[in-house]
Amino acid sequence: MDKVSFAFKPYMTVMPAVLVGANVDGKPNYMTVAWTGVACMDPPAISIAINRSRYTEKGIIENGTFSVNIPSTKNVVEMDYCGITSGSKVDKHLVFETFYGKLATAPLISEFPVNIECELRHSLELGSHNLHIGEVVDVLMSKDCMTDGKPDPKKIDPIIYSAYNYYRLGEVVGKAFSSGKEYRK
Ligand SMILES: Cc1cc2nc3c(=O)[nH]c(=O)nc-3n(C[C@H](O)[C@H](O)[C@H](O)COP(=O)(O)O)c2cc1C
Repeated sequence: MDKVSFAFKPYMTVMPAVLVGANVDGKPNYMTVAWTGVACMDPPAISIAINRSRYTEKGIIENGTFSVNIPSTKNVVEMDYCGITSGSKVDKHLVFETFYGKLATAPLISEFPVNIECELRHSLELGSHNLHIGEVVDVLMSKDCMTDGKPDPKKIDPIIYSAYNYYRLGEVVGKAFSSGKEYRK
């Protein structure tokens, strides 16, 4: 084993890049978020780690709702823009076409293939970031990103963030909950 202590950072190496949406003072605002993940299956919940300085957080607290929008690689420029520009200085609401689903205060991005509506359930003050956990109220999927009624990762073509670069999905290298059976033989 040849290892080196690399950094005291939450270095997860690869992360999905998404846009979190919230209405701030009644207007949609979107920010790029890589620190997000599935938190629970039942009730279905998603977590987002938001720095306390973010304008978007104001809206999350204000309304108790937020959205998680998964972009395609073709949305990379607009997505990164929302990660380098704050709604406190620049109005970002026209970068995308906004629509609303079940929640009147969780803005959703029309152009993105996957939109997840969340109701805020828990907020944990951890330090630089607050961990917000939202219960999923609905997941909307663009029909053209589905095959045989199921989400198709190749068609969704999500953006993967790693070490200050954006990547797209590669080849299938195994079958989940199945490849491991070969080890038993
Ligand atoms: C690739 C990328 C990932 C980011 N991930 C996060 C994150 O997980 N949490 C966070 O608080 N900020 C994150 N940011 C920074 C915010 O998106 C950025 O500060 C943004 O301008 C905040 O917008 P707002 O002030 O309008 O809310 C990320 C930025 C980029 C470019």
